[in-house]
Amino acid sequence: MTRRLKMEKVEPHLFVVFGATGDLAKRKLLPAFHRLMKDRLGESVVLGVAGSELTDDEFRDRSLKALIEAGVPDEDAQRWCGRALHYQPIGEGFDALVDRIGRIEEEESLPGNRVFYLALPPEAFDETVTRLGESGLSRSPGWVRIVVEKPFGEDLSSSREATASLARWFDETQIFRIDHYLGKETVQNLLVFRFANLLFESSWHRDRIAAVQVTVAEDGGVGTRGRYYDKAGAVRDILQNHLTQLLALIAMEPPVRLGANEIRDEKVKLLRAIWPVDPDSAVLGQYGPGEVGGVPVPGYAEEVGNHDSRTPTFVAVTFTIDTWRWQGVPFYLRTGKRLPRRVTEIDVIFRPPPVCLFDESGACQVHGNVLRITLQPDEGFELRFDVKRPGDEMALETHGLRFGYEEAFGPMPEAYETLLYDVVVGEQTLFVRTDEVEEAWRIWTPLLSEGLDVHPYTAGSFGPEQADSLPHRRGHHWQVR
Ligand code: BG6
Repeated sequence: MTRRLKMEKVEPHLFVVFGATGDLAKRKLLPAFHRLMKDRLGESVVLGVAGSELTDDEFRDRSLKALIEAGVPDEDAQRWCGRALHYQPIGEGFDALVDRIGRIEEEESLPGNRVFYLALPPEAFDETVTRLGESGLSRSPGWVRIVVEKPFGEDLSSSREATASLARWFDETQIFRIDHYLGKETVQNLLVFRFANLLFESSWHRDRIAAVQVTVAEDGGVGTRGRYYDKAGAVRDILQNHLTQLLALIAMEPPVRLGANEIRDEKVKLLRAIWPVDPDSAVLGQYGPGEVGGVPVPGYAEEVGNHDSRTPTFVAVTFTIDTWRWQGVPFYLRTGKRLPRRVTEIDVIFRPPPVCLFDESGACQVHGNVLRITLQPDEGFELRFDVKRPGDEMALETHGLRFGYEEAFGPMPEAYETLLYDVVVGEQTLFVRTDEVEEAWRIWTPLLSEGLDVHPYTAGSFGPEQADSLPHRRGHHWQVR
């Protein structure tokens, strides 16, 4: 993508993180800031903002623990926290925040370049954006960018409201909606894989491809995020964003060039060719008690302490895309929590050969090739194809040609590092544009209706049995089993 092809200039800047004492800041943002500032961003400064009444030193102590938990050596973490971190309680109001930002920029000789990072629950979003605007913080002598975490609204209409609230104070070039899947190397590589390798792209259409499946399976439950998750559920948490982004990159047309807008234009065009999904083509589920990896786990309702909860922790859906390239090809998307293992996989299933030469005892042995792209746990590709098993018989067996990212390149960078760096250099390719968000809500909103069945499944299984019928209806099965 363009950002990989040119050298960007990093200008001195201040990160203002709203929700700085939350889970995301602790697990992802602080370790990413630390690594980036060490390696690529230099001496930038972070001002944490949150509800807790903490001093700078108390915030540094908490952050230090988070960094040590993330594996940063003690002394290194201590030095960095002491130098880079500041804290401002939001209870003191936005005027105090404006003063504080001014003082830090003066002390650190910063030119007013600011990133406001909203790591906040959805209910705090609108007020924070409005207060930023009203207090004048959306303007500055330098550049100002705002980073917004998902969920971007709860459905189409609330997403439009959130967009309107942002648009009062920020224009599209300042808005960076994070979908951390776009920061994963394999996801970015989908474009290179498709558009730099004619071998695959020339077969990437309805004449050669029988079906496409994407599975985002997690073995974990909702952990400490029950309050958020019980309102969100699997459709808002994963389908509307991560799965939709994967789908768009797999199925979009080649962009005319690798600019942020050209790529996002193609993604939007693709999404526009998908009708709002029919709930009869989807299966929702919620896990009950079971065992994952040999360990007994409680059911979802017990985990979140809401025994009447009907929140889906699983969704599987099938649909087609109304374009010349994809007409009639079924796409299957699926995600769930408390499935047997953590795996994110795209399976492109090619058509079998038109004539079956190898039909031992009347049963055709030939399978369609499958291109398996794994994002988790190991990033890589595998092309599945049939070979002859040695011996007198003409017996076929399916094997794979594999490419592993880590084997080739060593450890992969963390998605948040990639994305935060892009925010600082103003590169928007890996961020979700307003029209993409709205198209995604348009497609999936029918799955948010109250009255839909939510089928129980046992924790540790691959979801409710009903989900198997989606591919079975077309003579397919889930590749991840
Ligand atoms: C987050 C969801 O966006 O993605 C979580 O809110 C989910 O529920 C997580 O667990 C999965 O991300 P990854 O990178 O671990 O696949």
